[in-house]
Amino acid sequence: MAKKGTAPVRVGDRRELEIEGLVGGGEAIARLDGFPIFVPYAVPGDRIRARVISTKPGYARALIEEVLAPGPLRVQPECPVFSTCGGCQWQALGYADQVEWKTRLVAEALQRTGGLDPAGILKPTLPSPSPWHYRNKVHWAVGKAGGKWLVGLYEPRSHQIVDAPTCRIQGEANNQMLAVVRELLPRFDFEPYDEATGAGWLRSIFTKTGHGTGEVMLGLVTKNEFFDAGPAFVEAVRAAFPGVTTIVQNVHPEPGNKLLGRETIALFGPGVIREKIGPLEFSISAEAFFQVNAAAIELLYGEVAKAAHLETKPRVLDAYCGTGSIALFLAAQGARDVVGIEIVDKAVEDARANATRNGLEARFLVGAVEALLPKVLVAEGAPDVLVLDPPRKGCEPEVLAAVAKAGAARVIYVSCNPVTLARDLKLLAPTYVVESVQPVDMFPQTAHVECVAVLKKAAPAGTAQ
Ligand SMILES: C[S@@+](CC[C@H](N)C(=O)[O-])C[C@H]1O[C@@H](n2cnc3c(N)ncnc32)[C@H](O)[C@@H]1O
Repeated sequence: MAKKGTAPVRVGDRRELEIEGLVGGGEAIARLDGFPIFVPYAVPGDRIRARVISTKPGYARALIEEVLAPGPLRVQPECPVFSTCGGCQWQALGYADQVEWKTRLVAEALQRTGGLDPAGILKPTLPSPSPWHYRNKVHWAVGKAGGKWLVGLYEPRSHQIVDAPTCRIQGEANNQMLAVVRELLPRFDFEPYDEATGAGWLRSIFTKTGHGTGEVMLGLVTKNEFFDAGPAFVEAVRAAFPGVTTIVQNVHPEPGNKLLGRETIALFGPGVIREKIGPLEFSISAEAFFQVNAAAIELLYGEVAKAAHLETKPRVLDAYCGTGSIALFLAAQGARDVVGIEIVDKAVEDARANATRNGLEARFLVGAVEALLPKVLVAEGAPDVLVLDPPRKGCEPEVLAAVAKAGAARVIYVSCNPVTLARDLKLLAPTYVVESVQPVDMFPQTAHVECVAVLKKAAPAGTAQ
């Protein structure tokens, strides 16, 4: 009998496994004598033969060699590179089941990490208006193998590029642009950047599209600004894809796997694209974050607006505000004294321009939320509604401490990571009680899910609620 926590398998072993379920990162889980084995791309109910590829104290990981008996939830994946590409984890699971599993995984995070009982607070996940071709942004990795260009996403947990001529979750314009770039790269004398040595020039390629405006941005991320072939490249892209509205070069000389550098040069067009959310129009720079599933944004922000009780004309502070999209969505419907805080200066420039463009009043501050929010809350007092929409790692402890101390009547926490959301909800208790958590599927075919958690300030001890 193996020691507790020691893997009962070794790397290279082949085993038959019954898949029990899915876990937060998107992999499926099977157990061998109670020992967890994670299997990417498998589906609950599958019986598979798998090969063990790694063992760790407490768990192992294995890859499917053969699906011996498909589970009842298994469907035919649409994409030919599904099961090597790291982009989608759940294409072999039908869409309705994906949505149901997202709710289950949010429930598990709330319970395990947040110590919360999901019953009564967690609502069923709202599906995306479209389960395919929904993304408005993509960052393609580029490289060469045997003299041939590779353009695609990475394999999971690696920097091996999966060459992909098209992507089922990208919008049509992103795929058209991918085809153009694949065609043009061999005609230009670019060298792909080598992460290990720092040699080469072209680091990656991105496109952003405005779902509601049809505008398209192509961006090249390069090690330095020298680009003698720039005008010829711009001309070739415009000839092949006349719908492109701007072409930019982002200069990124630093090592490491941050996607973008600090400087962006507009080679053609305004250097930004515009997008619409309802009646509002937003300008988006290369560096600025914007929700990737444009058709689902109104669904997500609609949940925020409902929770903000805009009929009461609340004062709103939007922390981690990006291009000001939530702040302005709320300002347009009655929120007042709206303030946004965001660390990326280009996004704040966009946010200010977006306020003006839409004739709305809002102030946007550039800086880290952890540095600015505590000061703003002391100087201006607590808003009625405090929106937190941090990146995947969640809020810094000092942010949560300042939020608890200031005591806004309502906190609306928008999160793309149920585990850090649950952790932060636990840290905000007992000052705040969680009224509801609404998952919204902004990322079909993947294990990712967005959540809107609505928190109400708890009544002081000894008072009736
Ligand atoms: C998940 S996005 C949300 C943006 C916006 N609310 C939206 O819906 O488009 C998180 C944003 O936080 C910004 N950010 C990340 N770390 C930050 C920090 N420490 N302080 C301020 N903003 C930060 C990112 O640049 C990004 O714009």
